[in-house]
This record gives sequence, structure tokens and C-alpha cells, in this order.
Amino acid sequence: MTNDLEGRIEIIRGDITQQSTDAIVNAANESLLGGGGVDGAIHRATGRELLAECRTIGGCPTGQARITKGHQLAARFVIHTVGPIWRGGNSNEAELLASCYQNCLILAREHDLETIAFPAISTGVYGFPIEKATAIAVTKAMDFLKKTPEMKKIVFVCFSGEDLAIYLKTLEAYGNSR
Ligand code: AR6
Repeated sequence: MTNDLEGRIEIIRGDITQQSTDAIVNAANESLLGGGGVDGAIHRATGRELLAECRTIGGCPTGQARITKGHQLAARFVIHTVGPIWRGGNSNEAELLASCYQNCLILAREHDLETIAFPAISTGVYGFPIEKATAIAVTKAMDFLKKTPEMKKIVFVCFSGEDLAIYLKTLEAYGNSR
């Protein structure tokens, strides 16, 4: 266990469905019944069992998070969160996105998880500007790691090379080395 941030934030380019962290995070919608983007990829990778479990939850409000099993995934759990739709920046989007990260990390801690992988929540179909979203993701992760020595690693999985470059630049700007 360590309070040191060194090496506890990892930024990679890849497919989140392939991650073997204790949990992967899904950028879902309020129905929790699947969709496109990363949500579609996760449901495709797990077949109908994840969908069946999600049906029992009954949805999730924007900014909150719900946990399910990982089913066929390497990850033991999927933490589903619903990011805000970008409406220009004056509709509480930043606070809602921050609460997505916070609530996912709280659920991870409650389940004694040590590693978690996040996609770039809200930055696809939901249109949140990637630089702003990345600053929120990285600062929330750093704050949480400082307070939670049990959490060994937070992985940010970037789907594109452009996103990867922005994450790396942001992490450097906030003073952490990989
Ligand atoms: N692994 C990692 N990242 C991915 C993957 C993947 N397999 N596939 C896409 N991304 P989005 P949102 C990236 O649109 O903006 C769904 O229909 C993608 O490039 O998946 O929160 C839900 O059901 C982008 O950087 O999520 C909702 O209706 C990031 O994941 C809505 O989209 C998020 O893009 C949620 O929109």
C-alpha cells in the first residue's frame, strides 16, 4: 500500500473490454440497457448475461454509478456510470462528470477493489470536450489515490492516439510521472 502517486495512474491506448483490472467502467446511459461506443463494446463482449443483470437494476441517474459482475470479461466487475451530455458547459456538466469518477471510485473502494480501468466518459456520443474531461478525470483520480492507499492502480484506457496524447499531457501538467 502506498500514498505515493508514482506509477498508480496508468495511461494506455487500447480496448477497455480487454483489461484485466478488478473492474472496468462503462460509459452507459440512464437505462443501463446498452448502446453504442464503449457501452456497446462491453455488452458485445459479455453477451446477454450482463444485460440480464442490468435489467434488474432499473437504470441509473446521470452522475451516479452502479456495479455488476464482469461475466465473460477478464475484469471481475463492471461499474456502470452515466456521464452528462455536453450542452455548452453551463448545465452542471463538469460537476456531473466529476461525480461519475467519484462515485465509481467509491463503489470500487466499497468492494475492496485494487485496480480499475476508465474510458473517457462522456467524450464520445455525449460530446464533452476531451481536454476539459481529461482534466476532471485525472484530478479526481489523483485526489482519490492520495486518500486511498488500498487502491493500487487507476488505468485510463484511450481509444485513439489523440486521446492518449491529451491524457499524457494532462497527467504531466498535474505533476505526476508515469
Ligand atoms: N475501449 C475504450 N474506449 C472506447 C471503446 C473501447 N472498446 N469504444 C469507444 N471508446 P462513448 P459517452 C471511447 O460514446 O460519450 C453509448 O451509446 C470513445 O472513443 O462510448 O459517455 C451509451 O449507451 C470515447 O473516447 O460514451 C450512451 O448512450 C469514449 O470511449 C452514450 O454512448 C466514450 O465514448 C454515452 O456517451
